[in-house]
Amino acid sequence: MHPDLTKVLFNEKEIAEAVARLGKQISTDYAGKKILLVSVLKGAFIFMADLLRQIKGDVEIDFMAVASYGVEANSSGVVRIIKDLETQLEDRHVLIVEDILDSGLTLSYLIKNIRSRHPLSLEIVTLLIKEGKQEGRVDCKYVGLVCPDEFVVGYGLDYSERYREIPYIGALNPAVYDDWDGKASLSSE
Ligand code: IMP
Ligand code: MG
Repeated sequence: MHPDLTKVLFNEKEIAEAVARLGKQISTDYAGKKILLVSVLKGAFIFMADLLRQIKGDVEIDFMAVASYGVEANSSGVVRIIKDLETQLEDRHVLIVEDILDSGLTLSYLIKNIRSRHPLSLEIVTLLIKEGKQEGRVDCKYVGLVCPDEFVVGYGLDYSERYREIPYIGALNPAVYDDWDGKASLSSE
């Protein structure tokens, strides 16, 4: 295990099984329809790549990048789009692909933004959800794994741009971020 982690929460096999299950569900639900997967950079890029290969059917992808103002380990919900979609959404079945749903503040902003472009349909798929923290902000149809309320890294998820390469998901030792001087900063998701 990586020395900055306190434990492994989901190993590679558990992640692969969750992604395969989500892919199957989505393939069934969208049979005969064209899907546009929209990923929010950067955390969800590995999940998106794996999920894409588990969906049978007609799938296109696009990316958005947002920056939220706040201390690194917390989200403030104040979001700025730094890279927008290239695709017109009017005739698209859009599926937003998220890495982790924590407070849901970032996503609730994005949902409003995407809805205003009138897609044919809009649903959310998230690999991880921290249960009980969204307070009804977002309605997520597809959930991979329920995660304890700890700061997690690996499989694309970072802390301050580190640890994305770890192939499993683990809890970051709080000593790592307690050491960090957490002044308000512009942090990329
Ligand atoms: P939310 O707005 O609180 O739902 O969080 C938004 C974003 O913060 C997520 O999409 C992640 O990019 C990031 N985030 C939240 N919790 C974690 C975590 O435990 N590890 C790594 N990133 C996280
Ligand atoms: Mg994210």
